[in-house]
Amino acid sequence: MEWFVRTFVKASLAWLAVGVTLGVAMAAHPPWVVYRPAHLHANVLGFVAMMIFGVAYHVIPRFSGHPLHSPTLARAHVWLANAGLLAMVGGFALVAQGRRAGTLLLAAGGLASALGAYAFAYNLWRTIDGPARLREAARRAAAARQASGVTGRAPLPQAGASAPPAAASAPLPRG
Ligand code: HEM
Ligand code: HEM
Repeated sequence: MEWFVRTFVKASLAWLAVGVTLGVAMAAHPPWVVYRPAHLHANVLGFVAMMIFGVAYHVIPRFSGHPLHSPTLARAHVWLANAGLLAMVGGFALVAQGRRAGTLLLAAGGLASALGAYAFAYNLWRTIDGPARLREAARRAAAARQASGVTGRAPLPQAGASAPPAAASAPLPRG
């Protein structure tokens, strides 16, 4: 498991602990409901989104059969997402206390979180498409297959059989 996968999954679990603790605190002490935005973003951006980031960085390259486009960008995303959310949660808390500095912190954290999200979207988009050289090789292989008239894979020889069955050696139907 790559560092950014493990870190996102563990960060998600840590943010879940922060989020539910804030939730229980609000439930037990209703005046603290002013911290609702901090609670909900710790849960949705921290727990839910970071679990998705970690699992997606692990699974999408395997589902698509292509290496992750940029592991460096994924590592940067870990820092943008976590520092960004920390600033957002702090910013929401300060805003709830009527402190002006909270707005600045919230804006900075929101920007970092958003940049991380754009990096995630770009990185996985490019991963799904695959490296340009693989796309070009696949295109050329398909063109060569078409030019040679071979439309299906030849059957593997059967153990102990002198010749493959006639039906198995027939070319696959086109289309
Ligand atoms: C032990 C677990 C949790 C407790 C005790 C808890 C408690 C609360 C409380 C007291 C509120 C404020 C309700 C109000 O405005 O009067 C709230 C809001 C909210 N919580 Fe939680 N929560 C928990 C877990 C979660 C989780 C896991 C998520 C998301 C994955 C979540 C998402 C939200 C959202 C989105 C709101 C805002 C709803 C709105 O704006 O109407 N909470 N929660
Ligand atoms: C860069 C990421 C994000 C930023 C900067 C951001 C910022 C904000 C801000 C400033 C508010 C207004 C809070 C207030 O009422 O004072 C808000 C509300 C809200 N956000 Fe986000 N958000 C982000 C991502 C998300 C995501 C990913 C989700 C859900 C998956 C989400 C769910 C909500 C909800 C449900 C509310 C309404 C809260 C309420 O009225 O109680 N946000 N967000």
